[in-house]
Amino acid sequence: MVNVKKVVKKLDPYVPGRSIMEIARKYGLDPDEIIKLGSNENPWGPSPRAVKAIKADLEFINQYPESDLKDLTEAVASYSGVSPSQVILGGDGADEILDILGKALIDPGDEFIVHIPSYMYYEFTLKIYGGVPAYANWDVSKNTLDVESVLEALSPRTRIIFLCTPNNPTAGLINKKDIRTVLENTDALVVVDEAYFEFSGVNNVDLLGEYDNLFILRTFSKVMGLAGMRIGYGLGNPQFIEYLHRAKPAFSVTRLSQIAATATLADKEYIERSTQLSIESREYLYQKLSGIPDLDVLQSKANYLLVDIRKTEMKSGILTEKLMEKGIIVRDCYSFRGLDDYWIRVSVGTLEEDERFIEILKQIIR
Ligand SMILES: Cc1ncc(COP(=O)(O)O)c(C=O)c1O
Repeated sequence: MVNVKKVVKKLDPYVPGRSIMEIARKYGLDPDEIIKLGSNENPWGPSPRAVKAIKADLEFINQYPESDLKDLTEAVASYSGVSPSQVILGGDGADEILDILGKALIDPGDEFIVHIPSYMYYEFTLKIYGGVPAYANWDVSKNTLDVESVLEALSPRTRIIFLCTPNNPTAGLINKKDIRTVLENTDALVVVDEAYFEFSGVNNVDLLGEYDNLFILRTFSKVMGLAGMRIGYGLGNPQFIEYLHRAKPAFSVTRLSQIAATATLADKEYIERSTQLSIESREYLYQKLSGIPDLDVLQSKANYLLVDIRKTEMKSGILTEKLMEKGIIVRDCYSFRGLDDYWIRVSVGTLEEDERFIEILKQIIR
């Protein structure tokens, strides 16, 4: 056996959401009948403009992508209200940017802070570079960050602090005041993950001018409807962005991803409509789920809801299995550090998908 690094041997594999094909095969279901409410995608499909632009470029996939990604960088800058020198694009989504941060900032033994529960990929990615997690708390009862716990977790070896707002999986926000407090108490990089900011109506771009150590992470996988194209972006200080470009793979954003993302940003109507429909679906699901006596639902500012199912006396593994047998995929949250075995996360669907899900869920719980 070749000599694989110790850190890789010890790494817990990342647990992703379940895919439609996987569930179709496992339960012998027709993939077209499966409702996927497990990965916080856009259930209304991609922008028609993105599909058209991809089709028009298909004949040119024998050519490498542009390496400077000028059009898309400018479009992202304009959408975000920053200059192009403040933008970096990632070709495996926002996840690739997390990897670039690991390459650029983490030496073995360096620390990073994550509040728990939160997006598990931070930890998964940085451990490979020898990063050591220090945990802060997300106050689930108030559904916001316990900012004191972040300050307590700081050490001379802290290199990165992750603040996820709206937080995945709890869907609550972090106050701007608390983000400022963290920024002012450290020279480490503060990554504010805004993967879901469009659904919340708030963002923290205004702080970029004030703090050199702020980095905002975003994605085209959620409201932009391009999860399958794997494209994300980061916004930060121009000098820092320039360093990150050195650590980035030259051609990771494919031609088709670049074209699809640029066309989507030009489709303002699509973005607005998707945001609006997601908010309506979220409010509908919140109202229906809170009406079921055995469920406790957290208020959400994102396109998903975290649900405490302990009063059903079923563990999340059992409930999600029963839902999958009936063709419904939701996220079993057992793998999120900081949550026990009684939480599920439900993404917004179309109204018909929501109704079907509620109907089947009620049958199972009854
Ligand atoms: C909070 C958060 N950040 C980042 C990502 C990564 O997104 P991408 O699909 O762009 O890699 C996700 C994906 O689910 C997420 O939930």
